[in-house]
Amino acid sequence: MTSITDILHTMDYGPAPEDSAIVRDWLHRHEAGFGHFIDGAFTAPGESFAVTDPATGAVLAHVTQGSVADVDAAVTAARAAQPGWAALPGHDRARHLYALARHIQQHARFLAVLETLDSGKPIRESRDIDLPLVVRHVYHHAGWAEILADEFPGATPHGVCGQVIPWNFPLLMLAWKVAPALAAGNTVVLKPAEYTPLTALALAEIAREAGLPKGVLNIVTGDGATGAALTGHPGVDKVAFTGSTEVGRLIRRQTAGSGKALTLELGGKSPFLVFADADLDAAVEGVVDSIWFNQGQVCCAGSRILVAEAVAPRFTELLRRRMATLITGNPLEKSTDLGAIVHPVQLERIRALVDQGRAEGAQVHQGEAPEGCFYPPTLVTGVAPASVLSTEEIFGPVVTLTPFRTPEDAVTLANNSRYGLAASVWSENVNLALDMAAKVKAGVVWINAANLFDAGAAFGGMRESGFGREGARAGMAAYLSHPAPKPKQPEAPPAPLEATPAQGLPVMAIDRTAKLYVGGKQARPDSGYSYAVTGAQGAVGLAPLGSRKDIRNAVEAAHAAKGWGAQTGHNRAQVLYYLAENLAARAAEFEDRLRSFGQSGDSARTEVQTAIRRVFWYAAQADKFDGAVQSTKSAHVTLAMNEPLGVMGILCPTAQPLLGFVSLVLPAIAMGNRVVAVPSQTHPLAVTDLYQVMDTSDLPGGVVNIVTGERDLLAKTLADHDDVAAVWYFGTAAGARAVETASAGNLKQTWTDDGAARDWTGAEGQGRLFLQRATQVKTVWVPYGE
Ligand code: NAI
Repeated sequence: MTSITDILHTMDYGPAPEDSAIVRDWLHRHEAGFGHFIDGAFTAPGESFAVTDPATGAVLAHVTQGSVADVDAAVTAARAAQPGWAALPGHDRARHLYALARHIQQHARFLAVLETLDSGKPIRESRDIDLPLVVRHVYHHAGWAEILADEFPGATPHGVCGQVIPWNFPLLMLAWKVAPALAAGNTVVLKPAEYTPLTALALAEIAREAGLPKGVLNIVTGDGATGAALTGHPGVDKVAFTGSTEVGRLIRRQTAGSGKALTLELGGKSPFLVFADADLDAAVEGVVDSIWFNQGQVCCAGSRILVAEAVAPRFTELLRRRMATLITGNPLEKSTDLGAIVHPVQLERIRALVDQGRAEGAQVHQGEAPEGCFYPPTLVTGVAPASVLSTEEIFGPVVTLTPFRTPEDAVTLANNSRYGLAASVWSENVNLALDMAAKVKAGVVWINAANLFDAGAAFGGMRESGFGREGARAGMAAYLSHPAPKPKQPEAPPAPLEATPAQGLPVMAIDRTAKLYVGGKQARPDSGYSYAVTGAQGAVGLAPLGSRKDIRNAVEAAHAAKGWGAQTGHNRAQVLYYLAENLAARAAEFEDRLRSFGQSGDSARTEVQTAIRRVFWYAAQADKFDGAVQSTKSAHVTLAMNEPLGVMGILCPTAQPLLGFVSLVLPAIAMGNRVVAVPSQTHPLAVTDLYQVMDTSDLPGGVVNIVTGERDLLAKTLADHDDVAAVWYFGTAAGARAVETASAGNLKQTWTDDGAARDWTGAEGQGRLFLQRATQVKTVWVPYGE
């Protein structure tokens, strides 16, 4: 027995395990196995699989492997419940969510223990972090339901949401997905991860107890096949997924062309930047919270420490000392810092990756861990940037440490990743810290902190970390259509183009041969071919037949113009005002051009005048489409910055050739993006006439690049291109599907829409929606007060 003297000598904690009796009783009551929760009731258990406690390997329960028919029944129930749920006044939906939040609060201890048993995470975390965040999330979104009609006028829910979540924060991810969906008036079918389905099933019981109407929330358990049946179900209108980038890519391809709304929260390899003037002790605690939180099974874990050379040896030493004090073991023990790894499969994956790193020559420093499904806290030094440990998401308690020389090197190293989820910056110099926040490619940046979350702060990634935001206003917007969608009417495919050699043309009623516009200069197409553009009275001109090579050149030119995004909104506005004035000065010419395509005088005049006003409108917005300071619970100003996406591909509709182009390209460049645009395939000359207007308006070369030709071919090239961040495609159904499928490569954002159905002269051709689509929120947590 340990004597008091021993305890005083070692200062070790005595054992203080959390009592799990109520959870074990509950599991005992469900010994026969769990069915799904569909239409307000549990189904009889079907073909099932065992769910285990990773810390002991003991079987906790049996849950049903959801079949296609089960998914179908759940979607049918959700669809039947949706109109009634959406028709409730926001206040009534809010009351339901408040009730749900209160019931969760009442069962918080039970849920925390169940979460720990099922996932292996330390009870301290499930009790003090996961559950409070779950409750906060549901309350916060009850509030959104209350004020929805005021805050999002005219917006409508998508309908039925199919949601698939991972095993690292089982209940928290459920809350993140379900609360905003229900607040907006959607109904939900959710599939929890196969390793950790139990808190979702418990929550279904709680939702029933709280009086949530039947069919509003449905839970179907099962593995990836069940997930795929859900995300591919034709009755699902919106898919929200959190998990691996690999599966995110599959879902992007699966849903391509289906018209389903999609948000993806995927993997990360987030940098943790420590500058020489940082409070090193605080930064060490930051690492603990960053990579040793939840055994490193956190998508936004700071898994790459980048530390200033001057302090690297000292920081490494401090970190190793701190690592030695971490306790890995029984997750139910209140003093445990690292619990069990979720599953032996995941443990094997971590081991294999670390072994591979070791074989490549990395030095591996480790703390202690017991036998079983545990992995010790691990620090790896001497890793090359190309090493698997520097590039792959390990999803375990393993962090690399790499020194850097200058802040510029730090930015380069930080951004040397295909991911862009989060970053943590440690410096006592506010100028430096905020400069880093601006330069790092990440959806979330914490300054002198790590892994802070709040329902009031948008969370989500850039690049291959996915797209869409959860939490705050941006998260709510992802569960709404605004304005309400009209039936999709994609264009009929335009006639195929016939190549005409640029030289030796037969004499036609042609006034001139247009060129491409790349990097601020007119350029001949690589193919050397053009195509005839016909109007009311036959051929009216020739437009270049752009090729893949021309697109590649245009993307390169757009990248070279990156200074545009760094300009102030005011400066961009000045250029756009100038553009509007120059366009106005040549209005008559543009009207003539449109009339030559067979448009009536009235329609040509309206189109040109609307285009001019639209340029003014986006010029006005360039310095007014502000971000926000989000209200979070901790002492931070949590900024939501509207950042440009980067280089965008824009494929314009065939109708209203001038206005379609202006309506899409102007919001993009007003927000600081650079664009490669393909104008109306049938009437591109309305846009090629704009080159001189752009030249005389001080628009820097490369901000707008124009490649004419076969839209769907060029669209595919843009969607395939890894250096393009987003593609907007307004055209045919087949083209939209091809764009969405190809965009899975680097997980670029896409917007495909009913170009033909939209009247670009009306209100639906202009607005904040276009600005939202042209930006992504970067959330920056800055210490403030306290
Ligand atoms: P996963 O991405 O396969 O699983 C996440 C969820 O997706 C689970 O509910 C799963 O059943 C479901 N799913 C799997 N295939 C599906 C499909 N084709 N269609 C629809 N749903 C599907 O992640 P997994 O296999 O559990 O973990 C593998 C690796 O993924 C981890 O080692 C880690 O690197 C990464 N990961 C990243 C997460 C993140 O939040 N960034 C979360 C979980 C895993």
